[in-house]
Amino acid sequence: MAVVTVIYHSQYRGATEALARAVADGAASVPDTDVAQVRVEDADSHWERLHDSDAIVFGTPTYIGGVSARFKEFIEKLAGEVWLKRLWLNKIAAGFTVSAGRSGDKLASLQQLTIFAAQLGMIWVPVRITGGNYSSRGSEDDLNRMAGYLGVMAQANIDEPSDLAPPPSDIRTAQMHGHHVASVTRQYACGRRTLPVDYDQWALTTARTTAPQPASLYDLVPKPGS
Ligand SMILES: Cc1cc2nc3c(=O)[nH]c(=O)nc-3n(C[C@H](O)[C@H](O)[C@H](O)COP(=O)(O)O)c2cc1C
Repeated sequence: MAVVTVIYHSQYRGATEALARAVADGAASVPDTDVAQVRVEDADSHWERLHDSDAIVFGTPTYIGGVSARFKEFIEKLAGEVWLKRLWLNKIAAGFTVSAGRSGDKLASLQQLTIFAAQLGMIWVPVRITGGNYSSRGSEDDLNRMAGYLGVMAQANIDEPSDLAPPPSDIRTAQMHGHHVASVTRQYACGRRTLPVDYDQWALTTARTTAPQPASLYDLVPKPGS
């Protein structure tokens, strides 16, 4: 059984939530995959699930050319125990974002997500297909119509509800990515469990926090002068 968790923030119109649902649906279509969707606001009730996940998919809206403040707040909770003790080392990671503009500077959000994953020692999975909608035969109905590779890039008109925006092509792209991430995770999780215990099994089994939330950096490293 491969365990995949989609953790996301969505606030303005629920556009990121619609994508999170699509990623989770795509992942759940892979046999033997246990999938959950968690809002960043609820992360404190789901640390055990997050630590037990083989893959964590990050979702954020693009706000002012980057990840939302609420999503970054969640990431900063990882900057203590999870980062220092390498608790998420070698987990599979992937991401998605949405903005109102076709560009909207959302590449910056995906770049931020990959850096967050890299700092935690995670392994990033890009989008599997080539970009759509880049020739005279292309259309907005193409999968990956934003032609992004780092993660799913979606676009949602600012005046439409989340059942219309992002459009079906973006929702299908998110489903495809969820399926891809879960498939890669399944292959990887099987192989990882065959590694010697002194490699990273400790992260899977022993180095687990039991506290309601991971210790912050200040809990672990004394402040200068104290
Ligand atoms: C505070 C704020 C900042 C935003 N900044 C951008 C931006 O930089 N580029 C863009 O194209 N859209 C921007 N938008 C639009 C959102 O990215 C878009 O509406 C998105 O679908 C919101 O996702 P959500 O409904 O999951 O919150 C912004 C919206 C808000 C509320």
